[in-house]
Amino acid sequence: MSKQVLGVLCSGRGTDLQSIIDAIGRGEVDATIAVVLTDKPDAYALTRAEKAGIKAVCIDRKQFDGRQPFEEALIAALDEAGVTLVVLAGFMRILTPYFVRHYAGRIMNIHPALLPSFPGAHAHRDVLAYGVKVSGCTVHFVDEGTDSGPIILQAAVPVLDDDTEETLGARVLEQEHIIYPKAIQLYCEGRLKVEGRHVRILSAKQ
Ligand code: GAR
Repeated sequence: MSKQVLGVLCSGRGTDLQSIIDAIGRGEVDATIAVVLTDKPDAYALTRAEKAGIKAVCIDRKQFDGRQPFEEALIAALDEAGVTLVVLAGFMRILTPYFVRHYAGRIMNIHPALLPSFPGAHAHRDVLAYGVKVSGCTVHFVDEGTDSGPIILQAAVPVLDDDTEETLGARVLEQEHIIYPKAIQLYCEGRLKVEGRHVRILSAKQ
């Protein structure tokens, strides 16, 4: 299998992006990041990419009249960079079927809760409001729904009585930084077999 070329999409501070950059640096993920795209000009992820010598481009959602032209610009940038796997790392926009079909089976997302519980943009707030005792994070393939694609890896953390969105978010983020690089590496090794809703992890080739 030839080396995967990643395109990472972010909206904010980019710590998940950083965990992937660092894992590639340590030789734990056998891929290259060809481009980092953000939908916001002030996303710190742009600075992280530049510091790592990775092409970083803002495709400012506000400059586009509608979702389709915005997604056309994302696709053009990803295709021009030769991206083979799209990695959503804190990208806070819903992608339409137009985008998802273009990269069918080749888009991953990380969500800061144990899906299918607490999908959407305010997972930690929703977790705390509901009163569950365990939360975590989920890496999944992206399908045409919201946070609904086949699950690749999950990690759990306790929810503590005095948690705030910030303290819970920080505990979950530690796990995100472990499982996202792992899931990407499994993909790079060709070890993820999707069967309907199920993702089977094949054993390592000897
Ligand atoms: C992460 O917690 C990620 O799981 C979440 O945004 C945060 C990004 O942090 N993603 C979503 O909520 C997607 N719906 P980062 O900018 O520090 O990587």
